[in-house]
This record gives sequence, structure tokens and C-alpha cells, in this order.
Amino acid sequence: MIVAMSTIDKLIARMTLPEKLGQMTMTAASHAVTGPVSAGDATDSIRDGTLGNLLNLVGPAPTRDMQRIAVEESRLGIPLLLGFDVIHGHRTIFPVPLAEAATFDPWLWERTARAAACEAAADGLALTFAPMLDVSRDPRWGRSVEGPGEDPWVAATFACAKVRGFEGKDLASPASLAATAKHFCAYGPVAAGRDYAPVDISERTLHEVHLPAFAAAVRAGVAAIMPAFTSLAGIPMTAHKQLLRDYLRGTLRFDGIIVSDYNAIRELINHGVAANVVEAAVLALRAGVDIDMMAGAYREGLPVALERGLVSMAEIDDSVRRVLRLKARLGLFDDPYRRGTVAEAPAVVAARRALAREAATKSLVLVKNAAATLPLPSSVRRVCVLGPLADAWREMRGPWAAAGYDAPGVTVRAALRESIPDARIDHAAGVPITGGDDAGIAAAIDLVRAQPDAVVLCLGEAAEMSGEAASRAAPELPGRQREFATAVFDRARAADVPVIVVLFCGRPLVIPWLDERADALLVAWFPGHEAGHAIADVLTGRVSPSGRTPMTWPRSLGQVPLYYAQYANGRPENAADRFTSKYLDASSAPLYPFGYGLGYGRCAYTNLRVTPASAGPEGVFEIAVDVTNEGSRTAEETVFVFIRDRVASVVRPLLELKGMAKVVLAPGTTATARVRLAATELALLDVAMRSVIEPGEVDIFVGPCADPARLLSSRVLLCG
Ligand code: BGC
Repeated sequence: MIVAMSTIDKLIARMTLPEKLGQMTMTAASHAVTGPVSAGDATDSIRDGTLGNLLNLVGPAPTRDMQRIAVEESRLGIPLLLGFDVIHGHRTIFPVPLAEAATFDPWLWERTARAAACEAAADGLALTFAPMLDVSRDPRWGRSVEGPGEDPWVAATFACAKVRGFEGKDLASPASLAATAKHFCAYGPVAAGRDYAPVDISERTLHEVHLPAFAAAVRAGVAAIMPAFTSLAGIPMTAHKQLLRDYLRGTLRFDGIIVSDYNAIRELINHGVAANVVEAAVLALRAGVDIDMMAGAYREGLPVALERGLVSMAEIDDSVRRVLRLKARLGLFDDPYRRGTVAEAPAVVAARRALAREAATKSLVLVKNAAATLPLPSSVRRVCVLGPLADAWREMRGPWAAAGYDAPGVTVRAALRESIPDARIDHAAGVPITGGDDAGIAAAIDLVRAQPDAVVLCLGEAAEMSGEAASRAAPELPGRQREFATAVFDRARAADVPVIVVLFCGRPLVIPWLDERADALLVAWFPGHEAGHAIADVLTGRVSPSGRTPMTWPRSLGQVPLYYAQYANGRPENAADRFTSKYLDASSAPLYPFGYGLGYGRCAYTNLRVTPASAGPEGVFEIAVDVTNEGSRTAEETVFVFIRDRVASVVRPLLELKGMAKVVLAPGTTATARVRLAATELALLDVAMRSVIEPGEVDIFVGPCADPARLLSSRVLLCG
């Protein structure tokens, strides 16, 4: 039974101001993860009804104990809302979100969120601060790892899949979590890629690139939204009335809760838009923030603000009502212990390892495979697994592994031992991930000298080098890894041993030299608990790699921000003409374009058909292309559909992703990939920022990635 609105209103009528502000406050249960603990200890406040929401309390016993205090010992017995950052799995850790995005598989995105929700709910939780939907086009920004990459269409598709997965069909189910779309909005373009820095982008970029994913999340029924820490064109998002109240609640009709980011309300003072905590609290409430996470600003500031007439009780009641309504939708009034009481069957938990392996395998992106170095031939008898990430079980899980830190990740070294038991597997780290210690290089090079069949060189970042507060001014291989790799390449070339690089990273790295020297290069990102198994599956050819990069990889840092959907310009690049858009000292082409990734098959695209050739605003274009696997191994191919509006009233991107399809092809077979594209998808924002479908010609491009040279094209006519 869901609690009726009148019941909620009756409850609000009985609440004191401190009790109301308690429902509008969330504090960390015991430990702070990402910021100062300014709100103090939780237990007493829960008992006296002045704290209604907690984060970072996990596990059936502790959540039950706290819930019991709220329900049985506080005056009104209002259940707690317990939230946690379930980012890429809860107990079972899946690939980091950027890696998951690389699967381009919405059904997989949904299934991993569902699995994470089941585990988190079994741990007593009811709210996750995920999915993160920030579009990122700058690899310096460490939080690129938490999101879906550079493309707004991917981000919107990811948003829907994740919200469906976390929330399930019914939020009241004991296995559902309320999802939080974050960080609203345009956190990705922080100045120069530095975390928390101000953002200043155009209204057009905001609406075309950064808002679509949030609009999609709202359409999918997301329960909560978290404003970003950042300011946008001079207005901190936590105080952004136009975007939170007018756009989100007004235009998008979002009726869930808005929960601030960690201490963000108090940080309005640092932004310089509030002189003190009272002003900060007023700004946030006025903007529509319902829950103050960790700042204690509502409890401290709103009583004073109310007294001074700066806010009204009705505004406070509105927020309290939304919080209580979410608790009701989660079924907490019916049974506050509905989550975290029934332990999951061991077989169910074990099955998640299979899903983690599937997700990890599909997230690996093979970016180079010279002379068919991979898969390893079945004749291999000696493999040398080198590098600081070859046996680094901690790093495999990636940043922000929720409650999954208890279990180690499977390493490449361990998994290769399992999957090629007849081979001798030698191992040396060579150098640490960071720092200047190169004492281990000589011993590692000796192993290469021993003439193995292949070297698997595991390089990259440490997990904590991406994520929040992990921006890097030079996103390259850290420490002495380049020197080590160069020594390995030199020695291996002399011995005619192929070197397969497995690269762990939370963002695209600037590594043109590595691409040049490696025989094969597999981008592993951070694959989660099943890392090693997934990588071994691909290295040995049990599975053909199918991941595609969801962010463009730059050749040099000066190209950043680099992304495929560049707006057209008046002087397109022309090598023969100096006065065109390019660099004097570097190529403007990416190292790997968006969508790039190889498989063990070899796919050719032919016979692109788009019907009808013209359509009005109600029309739907059917796009079909034949894909043939000309290789000798099965391939899973991701087929992308991009458009370009040839002449519009405003400048359009040279390519815009509008759809995708997947085909699985046995060697020598052909399949037709089909995508339906509604004419409404071709709408654009005109000069006045109105959404319009403009008559005219539109190019449809189809192919394996955003490299124009590899796309087939057709033209359709949009009629008015
Ligand atoms: C992060 C959020 C996160 C919150 C709670 C903040 O520092 O920006 O993404 O949900 O902490 O842990």
C-alpha cells in the first residue's frame, strides 16, 4: 500500500521545524568519503527526528539498526532514506562506467544496474547516487571515468538504461533503488579539465550536448537529481533557479527530489554568491534543492531565514513533501526493513560474476593488432607478463568500487595461468605505476631475453588516478613506465618477440608513441572484479573483442578538448592551404576516433539504403546496410548512424550520432544492420533556441566509427 498524499500532508502538519529540516538533511553515517564531515554524528539526530537521510552506511545489520532508531525511537517514526554511491556495481564490481559505455550495449547497461541494485538493496540501501551522465570531452578531467563519454546520444541512451536498471518496474520492490541523475549539469567542461573549476559554455552547447541525458533520465522516471558542484556562466548549479526550478521542474516536469552534492550548499560561500550559511541555504532552497548533503546549511540557516522572511514555510513544506513522497514510493512507510532483510542466494550472487565477466569482456577495446598478433596462437608455451598492472589486483576494480573492495580483482597474470595452463607464465612488474624506481627493469628485460612466444605488457594508471579530484594536466603513462616500455620494445624487437600492450586507464591517454611501437594494443580501462578473466578471454581468442571507444583519443594534449561532433567552420582543414583550421605543429586528427575498435573479424560495409528518400516531420527513415565478415573469425560489429544537416539556420556538427545497431557475424557471412530514424530526431534548436524541423537535405552516414573516411553516405530530403 502506497501512502496517500493526504497522509503525507497530515504528517507534515504534525512536524516541528527541526523535524522538517531533518528530512531535508543528509549526513554521512560514520565516515566521510569525499569532503569534510561538517554535520556531526548521526545517531542522536536520528533519534530526536532531526535527521532523515544518511549516506555511506552499508550492510543489513548497520542499516537495520539505524532504521530501527528512526522508526521506533523518533517521535514521528519516519523511516530513513539510505543512500550510497553504487557507481559500477555494489559488491560485484563491473567495468567503470566509461568502460561500460564502450560496450555500446544498452541491454547490458541495464542488466548491470539491475544487478547492482539487487546487491545494494540486499545491503539495506534504497538510493544510489548514480548514474553520472556528464558528457566529457576532456581526458584531463578525472571524472570522465564515471560517465558515458563524449556523446549526447550515448549519454541519453545510457541514462534510460541505467534508470530502468536501478529502479526496476516498481520503486517499492525490495530489490529496487532510487536512481540519482548527476551532476546536473555540464560538469564535464570544467575549465582546462580541472575538477570543480567553473564552467562557461554556450546556451546551445548546454542544450545540445549536456542536457539531453538529463531530459532522458527524467522521461525514464529518475527519482532524484544532484546538481553539480560547479558554476555555469557565473551561477553555481546548487543555486541555479533557472535550470533547477524553471527548466527541470517546469519544462521537464521533474517531480522527484533534488539532492545537493557533498557540502555544496555551504560551498556557495566559496563561490562568492553567499556571504554566510543563511544566504547559502536561502539560495539553494529558492533554486529547488530539497536535501542538503553534508553541509548542515539547512538546519543551521533556514530557521534564521524563516524568521527574517527570506523563505516561507510553504517552500520548506514543498521540499519535505517531495522527500516523504519518495520514501513512500520506495515502500519505506509500509515496511522500512523491506531492503536488507532477505539475504541473496549464493547461486544468485555467483551468477553476477558471469555478468561481470561478460561486461568486462565487451568493454575491452582493441585499437591495434598489427600482423594479426592477437589472438595468441594455441601453440604458445611461454608468455611473459610484464608491467606494474600485470598482477595488481587492487587496481583492477577501478575507482569508486562501492562495497566491492572486500574482494580482489582477477589479474592478467592469474587469469593467463588459468586459461593457458600448459604455458609457462613469467612475470615481473619492472617499475611501479608511479614514482621513479626503475630497479626492476633489468630483471624484467631478462625475461624478454629468454625468448618467450609473446610479451603481455600491462601498463597504465592506478585506479585512483581517475575519478573525483583526479584531474591530470598530462594524461600520459605515469612514473617510469615509458622508459620501461621502451626497453621492453627494444629488447623484444631484437628477439623478434611480439609485444601486446594491455592498457589500464580511466580516460583516453596521450600515447601516440605506444601505438606506434606495440604490436597489439588492448585498452582495458578498469574492468572490475573479472578483469583478468575478460582480458585472457580476448587475448586467447575465446572471445573476439567488440568494445569501441566512447571518447576520442587525442594525439597530443594541445588538441584537447577533442571530440568528433565538431561544429562546421568557415575554413575547414586543407593541407594545401595555410589559412585553414589546423595546427602548424601537430595533426588535428585523433589517434583513435570516437567509436573506434577492432575485432578479430574483418567487416566490410556495402549497399547502404535509406527509405523513403524524403519525408515530412511525421516520417521515419529506415536505414539498412549490409555488413560482411571477410575475416576468418566471428565478429560482433557495432554499426553507427550519424547525420549531418547540410544547410540549416544555425551551424551544425559535421557528424551527429543518431543511432546504432549490432550484428554478430560468422566468418564469410553477411547480415543487414537496420536502424529506424524518426524525422523528429533531426530537429535542431534555431536562432531563438526553439526546437524546429527545418526542411532541407540531410546526409546519413553509416559505418564503424566517426572517421569520415570509413563512412558510407546517403542523402535524404526533409520536407516542411
Ligand atoms: C561527489 C558525488 C557523490 C557524493 C557522495 C561527491 O563528492 O561529487 O558524485 O555522489 O560525493 O558521495
